Order: sequence, then structure tokens, then C-alpha cells
Amino acid sequence: MTIKAVIFDLDGVIVSTDQYHFEAWSKISEEEGILFNETINHQLRGVSRMESLDIILQRATKTYSDEEKLQLAEKKNEYYRQSLHHLSPSDLLPGVEYTLKTLKQNNIKIAIGSSSKNTPTILKQIGLDKEFDAIADGNDITRSKPDPEVFLLAATRLDIVPEECLVVEDALAGVEAAIAGKMNVAAVGETLRSSDADYYLESVDELLELVL
Ligand code: BG6
Ligand code: MG
Repeated sequence: MTIKAVIFDLDGVIVSTDQYHFEAWSKISEEEGILFNETINHQLRGVSRMESLDIILQRATKTYSDEEKLQLAEKKNEYYRQSLHHLSPSDLLPGVEYTLKTLKQNNIKIAIGSSSKNTPTILKQIGLDKEFDAIADGNDITRSKPDPEVFLLAATRLDIVPEECLVVEDALAGVEAAIAGKMNVAAVGETLRSSDADYYLESVDELLELVL
């Protein structure tokens, strides 16, 4: 396989923001009296903010209007963004810095393909806002993963065909999105060990063995 570009998911691949998302949704659920736990949280990985809220509200006893839903999503984002203030380069996941540096040295393009509208803030906080050749995020798309829109946009911005891209994902929705986009996909994270991804990585730097 010839890989000319690696498209990284952000949350859970480059940086560990998962706990912050979990804490913010936990607060909302508690305030609203809705059951929420790690298992339900797992279904929110890679899924947009509003769709995540819909998943949480499946267990609600009352019905929420569109207006109320928007307010809840907004509140969750405020809680989440408070946590993002603490984010720093030390929150980069193991092997990320070395992997990005080595890919660049070998002229492999690097991009972000994330569902998060907070991508610009997060990249700035972790000091990677100028590192990528292209960024496609939740602000650019109308269809969330498992739709391939965000990855296809990243590939277009890189000017590399999907078949020559490798996507790195920690979410099932993201693996499905990459497959739907006809891209190669490597999964990270214990829960994706038996997913449909082409490769499984214990840590991000293992992808270097695949592409170099
Ligand atoms: C994804 C996360 O990267 O971004 C999801 O895995 C999150 O958990 C989604 O819901 C949207 O994030 P944000 O920052 O736009 O609320
Ligand atoms: Mg992720």
C-alpha cells in the first residue's frame, strides 16, 4: 500500500479529552436526572455534540423541545470548555509528537479529521495549531461520522486521493467513516481491537511501521 497522507482523529488519538467530555455530559445528565455511565459514554465517541445529546436523551423520561436541546448542548459545551483551559502539550497521547515529526521528515502529509467544533481551541492549547497540512473539523461538515464527509474533506484539502490516505481512529463511528470513504484505517484503543479496521495499533507510533 502507498500511503501519502495520515489523517488523525483528534479526541482520543492525539489528545486525551475523553474524560472532559465524560465529566461534562455526566453533569448535564445528573442535573436532568438521566442515567449516564461509561458504557453510554462510549457510544458518544466520534459522534457530534447534538447527536451525542440525542443518545443521552434516549433515557430521559420527559420530551425535550429543540430549543431545550440546544440549551443543554450549549451548557455541556460550557462545562467542557472550562476543562479545556487546563489542556496543555503534556496531554498529548504517548508517541504522538514523535510520530508527527517522523511523518513530516518522510514527506508524508498529516491532517486532522475531527467531529469536534472545539478543534481549533484544542490544537492551540496543545501547541499543534500550526503543525498540520490540513484540518477538517466539526465546523466544516454537516454529516457526522460514520459519514465520511470530514475525512473526504481533509483528503481534498491535502489533494491526496482517499486510497492513499490512512485514517487513525479510536471510535467505531470513525472507523466506519474511513471505510465508507474508501480509506485505509488503523484503530487505536482496547475497545477497537476486533473492529473492521485494517490495522490495530497499541500506540499511535506503530503506524510508522505501516507507512514508512
Ligand atoms: C468528537 C468526540 O471528537 O467530537 C465526541 O469524540 C464529541 O465525543 C465530538 O461529541 C463533538 O465535539 P464538540 O467539541 O464539538 O462538542
Ligand atoms: Mg476520537
